[in-house]
Amino acid sequence: DKGNHRHFMAKEIYEQPEVMSYAFGHYLDLANEKVAVPELPFDLDSVRSISITACGTALYAGAVAEYWIEQFARIPVSTDIASEFRYRETPLEPGGVTIVISQSGETADTLASLRYAKACGQKVVAVVNVPTSTIAREADMVLPTLAGPEIGVASTKAFTCQLATLACLAVALGRASGRLAEDDERRLVRAFMEVPRLMTEALKLAPEIEVLARTLAKARDVLYLGRGTNYPLALEGALKLKEISYIHAEGYAGGELKHGPIALIDEKMPVVVIAPHDRIFEKTVSNMEEVAARGGKIILVTDPKGAEAAHVDAVQKLILPEMSPAVCPMVYAIPVQLIAYHTAVIMGTDVDQPRNLAKSVTVE
Ligand code: M6R
Repeated sequence: DKGNHRHFMAKEIYEQPEVMSYAFGHYLDLANEKVAVPELPFDLDSVRSISITACGTALYAGAVAEYWIEQFARIPVSTDIASEFRYRETPLEPGGVTIVISQSGETADTLASLRYAKACGQKVVAVVNVPTSTIAREADMVLPTLAGPEIGVASTKAFTCQLATLACLAVALGRASGRLAEDDERRLVRAFMEVPRLMTEALKLAPEIEVLARTLAKARDVLYLGRGTNYPLALEGALKLKEISYIHAEGYAGGELKHGPIALIDEKMPVVVIAPHDRIFEKTVSNMEEVAARGGKIILVTDPKGAEAAHVDAVQKLILPEMSPAVCPMVYAIPVQLIAYHTAVIMGTDVDQPRNLAKSVTVE
């Protein structure tokens, strides 16, 4: 049932404040302002590094978690595409930890990666949306993402619920490692609790995004830029746009712009810049200046401080409330999803069932 929405994807985008509040309710001890992730099936003292593997959108959620785990627990993390991970025969230490992420819990390459990690003697933590899935059954620990059924082929609420779950896991790892102070945990938990409200605010950008989508629908290519945890979100934005609007899009880390993609920039090339006003914002301003100097049209997704500090020509701004950097990729996911959705609606594509794609990829 799509409710009042035209597509399942729209319904699932708009459900996010509710499902995120449910997911956080599950992984947070609100009264004590702590995370409430179940006991981990390994002793963190003997874990020297963590591998994360998944496909598509789930991979990008993993790539965000890499930043969080390294920051909160100071444990090195490597994130890899499941179809590469499984065949690379990467040496995995027995007793180490692999995190697999999957909405369906049936993705062939992710399942094969889980089996590879287990065969190496690793403990596998599965972040899955379908609790009865094969991946959930075979993992040593399951963290359900609790997004509810996702019908749209383009993942939306499953992605943000993966992020919520992984954020709580990263804090739990921080606590278990002894490297995250109690006060910092409290601050993070408070920031997580704000996410549903911030998402509701973000959804109010829809009318502006609908207007913007008319320009994007005319583009042949779109570039997405982000830094830090917003870099994987740039990758996710590009994936979402190409999946449902069939417009070619690429995501890049802002710092990579000069190393190649800048050659593509001209007046016809919209560049979506995902940049809250954080400690590296000034670097992103330089990227925007480089784009503007070549006539590129910038769509800046930022906060009030970022909007003020971005003195660059040809910038259209989508302004979100100020928030903790730890929650930005979750909340900024909303405008990113709405950009793809409204562009696809204008293009007249089959938003929920885009051509050539399946909801669950159970073959290689
Ligand atoms: O079910 P999974 O999360 O394992 O699926 C992984 C990818 O196939 C999936 O995220 C795909 O990229 C989506 N269509 C993205 O919107």
